[in-house]
Amino acid sequence: ATASLLAACGGGQSASNTAPAASTPASASSATGAAPATDGDKVLKVAMNANFPPFESMNPNGQIEGFDVDVMNAIAKEEGFKVSYHQQAWDGIFASLKAGDNDILISGITITDERKQQMLFSEPYYKITQVILVPQGKSIKSVEDLKKMDKVGVTLGTTGDLAAQKILGATSEKIIRLENLPLMLKEVETGAVDAVISDSAVVADYVKKKGDKGFTMVEVPDFTVEYYGIAVRQDDKALMDKINAGLKEIQANGEYDKISDKYFAK
Ligand code: ARG
Repeated sequence: ATASLLAACGGGQSASNTAPAASTPASASSATGAAPATDGDKVLKVAMNANFPPFESMNPNGQIEGFDVDVMNAIAKEEGFKVSYHQQAWDGIFASLKAGDNDILISGITITDERKQQMLFSEPYYKITQVILVPQGKSIKSVEDLKKMDKVGVTLGTTGDLAAQKILGATSEKIIRLENLPLMLKEVETGAVDAVISDSAVVADYVKKKGDKGFTMVEVPDFTVEYYGIAVRQDDKALMDKINAGLKEIQANGEYDKISDKYFAK
């Protein structure tokens, strides 16, 4: 079933929108071999899987919007480079960076040791934990309760997938994997799965938007904290330096907090 569900999800959807031109490019940092991605007036391609509000989602006009877009725009503006945004299936997002189809990934991506072997990550820009989403009335107190369920849903290849494997076993047939979270949320709505494991800030946003329509987010102590980072290719150190400098600056000058308030107002 998983394969056909994957095919049905529209992973190949393509869309892009160019950010409002960020000021003039920073004077090319000289001698020490600036990485290709930072050359001149080039518009850097930023890829994300826009199925993950409030971090990234596709608005009705086919433009990608969200916290990650605003953060990336603010960094690019600060550092004087130009960016455009591109939809990318989650499954394959890391390969697309490596292949040079895009230059930067910002997509609610958790920094993990394994991923750090494949690409460069920025300093952390957001903190989450994995949480469990269940229909109201189901009680979950610890991951032990998950083991009693028949079907636990995750997005394929996410840290939620890893968390599920850790609890239920890597080969457990209880783990149901789909290509993106909105598809998985439908499954919990219809009762096709008993619970979904995903990132706290995204699940919280979903529960909030649903109002009192019957879902609960359960935080369990067993899941550890995760940090989101922005990724570039291993050899794009010069670009990563700029991203980190920009991130630091927007955190210091209040811009980051402004963006946070816009998406995560209490
Ligand atoms: N934080 C999780 C991970 O890195 C999930 C990220 C999913 N992001 C997305 N835009 N769909 O594995």
